[in-house]
Amino acid sequence: MKLFLDSADTDAIIKRYNTGLIDGVTTNPTLIFKSGKHPHDVYNELMKVGVPDISMEIVGESEEDFFSRAITHVKEYGDHATIKLPCSVEGLKACKRLSRVDVRVNVTLIFSASQAILASLAGATYISPFIGRMDDNSLDGMKLINDIKNTKVSAQILAASIRDPQSVSTAYALGADICTVPVDVFDKMYKHVLTDKGIEQFNRDAL
Ligand code: E4P
Repeated sequence: MKLFLDSADTDAIIKRYNTGLIDGVTTNPTLIFKSGKHPHDVYNELMKVGVPDISMEIVGESEEDFFSRAITHVKEYGDHATIKLPCSVEGLKACKRLSRVDVRVNVTLIFSASQAILASLAGATYISPFIGRMDDNSLDGMKLINDIKNTKVSAQILAASIRDPQSVSTAYALGADICTVPVDVFDKMYKHVLTDKGIEQFNRDAL
């Protein structure tokens, strides 16, 4: 079981990474845009504090675009780089080529078990089903995790687009290998009213 943060807010990430509970970070162009930083600055700041696994999304039109841009990232960021590619024909062709040269790929925007199967056959290290976006569209995100698990794909299931702590535990229970969560969801995972109440009482009684 691993927990990643889904963010490009480097200050917020570093604060949580310092808990020792975080194994990696996933970014996407929207998160990077919101951070107001250049992607390279985001990746470099995360690398500097030792984040071992950073999903870096590549945009492009063709297999060649994806492949050549991915190789540039790997040259620059080494083993910290996980290349994030869309679950499109060109994305999967590039994924297959990258897997042959041992580059970790996270195939993103997965909304069906058949996409998960193809991404796994393309040699992806991670496949990212988007739970929240499915639920937003009256589809069952958790059922997708279960369906993918039942196919016995060799790629690791990285549950993404998570909006609340309950979805984290459900996704793991259904077989997700990794959950990537926004920082506010990570913070909420600590919280329980009875824990707060208990701490308050024990602190009072200890006096
Ligand atoms: C995953 O890698 C994506 O960055 C992310 O989880 C998308 O989440 P959203 O649906 O909340 O944008």
